[in-house]
Order: sequence, then C-alpha cells, then structure tokens
Amino acid sequence: MRHFLTLKDFTKEEILEIIDIGLEIKKNLKAGVYNYELKNKTLAMIFEKSSTRTRVSFETGMFQLGGHALFLSNRDIHLGRGEPVKDTARVISSMCDMVMIRTFEHSMIEEFAAYSKVPVINGLTDSYHPVQLLADYMTLVEYGVEKNMVAAYVGDGNNMTHSWIMLAAKLGFELRVATPKGYEVDAKILKEALEIAKESGAVIKTMNDPKEAIKGATVVTTDTWTSMGQEDEKEERIKIFKGFMVDDDMMSLAQNGARFLHCLPAYRGLEVSEEVFEKHSEIVFDEAENRLHAQKGLMVWLDKRRGL
Ligand code: CP
Ligand code: NVA
Repeated sequence: MRHFLTLKDFTKEEILEIIDIGLEIKKNLKAGVYNYELKNKTLAMIFEKSSTRTRVSFETGMFQLGGHALFLSNRDIHLGRGEPVKDTARVISSMCDMVMIRTFEHSMIEEFAAYSKVPVINGLTDSYHPVQLLADYMTLVEYGVEKNMVAAYVGDGNNMTHSWIMLAAKLGFELRVATPKGYEVDAKILKEALEIAKESGAVIKTMNDPKEAIKGATVVTTDTWTSMGQEDEKEERIKIFKGFMVDDDMMSLAQNGARFLHCLPAYRGLEVSEEVFEKHSEIVFDEAENRLHAQKGLMVWLDKRRGL
C-alpha cells in the first residue's frame, strides 16, 4: 500500500504513470465514457483549511469513478474537538477506502498515515501541495512545453514552492526560485531536493532577485504571498513582497511565448497583475480543471496498489 504525502516518495516513472492514467481517464470522460474503477469505494476528505478546487475535484472525481466522497471539516468531526489523530485514522480507515487530508502541520498527515489501513493523500499541508503539481505537470504536457523546460517560481517560499522543487528534482528539469530575503524555502527540503537532483540532473537554483529567475524561463509560476494560516501577516507581507509581482515587465524577461501557471486562488495586483493573469487565463483554468483528472489518475493508481 502507498500513501501520497509528498513527491519525494515517488519515482519519476511513477509520477508520469499517474499523470498518464489521469490523461487517459480525461480522454474517456470527454468522449462520454466513464471509468467506474472505484465503484462502491469511499474517500474520506478531511478539511482543516478552506478549499474550492481540492474539494470539488476530489468529490467529483470520486463520484465519476463510481465511488462516494465524504466531506469532513474539523467542525464536523471529533478531530476538531481533540480526538487524537491516531484514533481518527484507525476509525476512518476501518470504514473508508482512501483518505484525503488538508491540514496545517505536515506531521499530522504523517501520523495519520502511520495509523491508516488505507492510502492517505495530501490535499495540502503547510509544507507541501503535491496533488497540485500533478495537475500542473499534466497541463504542461498537454501544452507541449514540458520538454527542456526552464521554470521560474517567483514569490513566497511555501508549500507550492516546496512541491515545485520536489517535482523538478524528480523529473530533472531546471527550476529557479526567487523569494524575498527571509521568505526562502525550507532549508531541509531544499537539501533533500538537491540530493535527488544529483541523480536526475535537475538544476535547482534559489535567489532573491525575481528578474534573474525569470530571465529566459519557458514557464513562470507564482502563488499567493499569504498562505492559509498566515492571514495576520498579510499587510506586512504585501510590503515585503513589493517587486515580486509577475507583471508584463517581468514576463517580458521570460522566453518569447513563455507560459504562466497559477495554482489559484490568485490575488490580482499582488503576486500577479490583472493583465498577465487574463492573458494566461486559458492555461490557468485548464490547470485548475486538471486537478480533477490528475487526482482521478492518482486515486486509481493508489487503489491498484492497496494491499499489494
Ligand atoms: N489550488 C488549490 O488547492 O485550490 P483550493 O485551495 O481551492 O483547493
Ligand atoms: N500556498 C497556498 C496555496 C493555496 C492552494 C496556501 O497554502 O494557502
């Protein structure tokens, strides 16, 4: 049995296989053919933070695969009132076939997985957002820009950045990460990624100058400057991140025809300008839709390995 907690635990071949399954299921869905591979199975979805895409994509995806999803916010279940994670894990995994969790501390999801009898999927923690990267890479494949990619991430060193770093390390592409001083990526995660990069040939560079990161990039991406749980720091962050907005001037430094990705929700006038966002809205909303298809691929992949 496998869990999907970070991309670190997956090989390049496995990541690409999951995306391929997702693309196949997507093709079938668009042709009106449903894959009921998870018929009669249930997915428990524990949300300790808000969500639009993650909830809608997992719930819809599970239904389309013939199964059922349960939405469990921490206001609904005893986890929010102090029932231990390890007890919650043993109860839920005795009844459900898979669990998706969105929470704060990454250690919570690790503890849950350690006590779970069924696969656990990370639907975002403070440290990682790996399901988003499956959708992002699927989108790059569909747009035919994944080969010889030079990616630039501009903004906060957060869960999205860490997952981009892990994806680059595993798949072997070049990634430049520019963050303001003091908002760099986690040093331990970077060290682990650089170790993996030695084998894959990935080039991962971190810096504090967004222009240096974007220069010649073929894919540019960013994320909110204020992640869930950091709302109290918003005003201060807006001041510190000044100069990190991806706007037309910034995009003009990238390679001609460079693509822009955003995991959403996007804050125009902060991490991205209205103009850049709207110019690239087609790929950004395809990226959002691909959450559904990529995660269906993931759930089918994990289910196949359950108990093997
Ligand atoms: N990108 C993403 O995970 O969106 P939600 O927070 O809406 O789920
Ligand atoms: N970094 C953001 C991603 C939202 C999908 C957050 O954690 O709030």
